[in-house]
Amino acid sequence: MRILVINGPNLNFLGRRDKRIYGEKTLAEVDSLVEKQGKALNVEVMTFQSNNEGALIDFIQEQSDSADGIIINPGALTHYGFSLRDALADTKLPVIEVHLSNIYAREEWRAKSVIAPVAKGQISGLGWRGYPAALQFLVDEQKGEN
Ligand code: DQA
Repeated sequence: MRILVINGPNLNFLGRRDKRIYGEKTLAEVDSLVEKQGKALNVEVMTFQSNNEGALIDFIQEQSDSADGIIINPGALTHYGFSLRDALADTKLPVIEVHLSNIYAREEWRAKSVIAPVAKGQISGLGWRGYPAALQFLVDEQKGEN
């Protein structure tokens, strides 16, 4: 099993961005945690981050044929990234949308996700723990354990 773990704009600044909202861990720390979890579950985890919507789409198009699922925190593209949404939908893979913060408890414009309708599900507000929770879900589901 192979899972893509994708982070969008500004998430490379985790650990430096508002820590009360996004937590203290850096993206490298979060990625390595999920990679370790992947090893324990016998799942190949491939991580990617870009601040550029086109680069995210290129990565999804290049990698999705050999993947079984996608975990994505689209950053602010969540709220207006229609090209990213189309690319995710085109993969036909199960997509789990992850947000560190609770997007429904912040500014009004954050409460709308254009990604959610093409996602299998969404985890919002559980901090970095949303990523391992999403990976565990995809593995369980693949095994028919849901
Ligand atoms: C975020 C929420 C988005 O609204 C914001 O633009 C981000 C991070 C989150 O993880 O909580 O960059 O996706």
